[in-house]
Amino acid sequence: MKRAIILGSGLDILSQESPLESIPYTEIPGWPLGKVKGHKGVLDKYKNIWVLRGRAHLYEGFTWEQACFPTQYLINQGIEELILTNAAGGIDPNYEIGDLMQITGYLNFMKPDKSRKLSRILQKPISYKTELVKNTHDDIRLHHGNYVGVHGPNYETHSEIALFKSMGASAVGMSTIPEIETAVKNNVKVTAISIITNVYGKTVDLGHEGVVQAAKNASEKLARLLCLN
Ligand code: HPA
Repeated sequence: MKRAIILGSGLDILSQESPLESIPYTEIPGWPLGKVKGHKGVLDKYKNIWVLRGRAHLYEGFTWEQACFPTQYLINQGIEELILTNAAGGIDPNYEIGDLMQITGYLNFMKPDKSRKLSRILQKPISYKTELVKNTHDDIRLHHGNYVGVHGPNYETHSEIALFKSMGASAVGMSTIPEIETAVKNNVKVTAISIITNVYGKTVDLGHEGVVQAAKNASEKLARLLCLN
């Protein structure tokens, strides 16, 4: 099985190991070059998995198609299973900073651009099952829940969080949905994990630096959960 993982802000796995090949995004024609801090901007190819260190977001001004480009590129290269990761804000009050949440469904509030075609495929539940996630670790708090994707880059108001909560969302973030949809439309297996970097009602000082640091701290857990350490 040819696998790839896309790492969200601050997430860092397998960086101690030398990749077989490392391709800067700048060398891949058409690649959307994101500028978000905490992203390295390279595709590292290891023996068992390809690692994308960083992604492009809609809030940086990229179109929906541009946000889908890296996933489409991986699929064109023969990737059969995609693992998506992101930093997300916890809406569920039981969540703590550093917890992981496996995405079981999503609400798309990302203001996708006009060319997005609603596909019949997306009307059916998506199977996010994978053999990769085996939580046999007592110290990893793994939840399952709905992810709500927003355009950003601002974080949410108190009322927006109350609304998302009433709609059944457990975490909120600004990415991943373009990639899920691209994978699903191409029949590629997808698993998506949010790293909870802040929790509404609990986190006092919310900012990008704090989000990146919390994601960095949780990277080791993510690697163990996915048996990639
Ligand atoms: N909201 C949206 N995106 C995020 C958050 C958040 O609270 N935390 C990390 N990414």
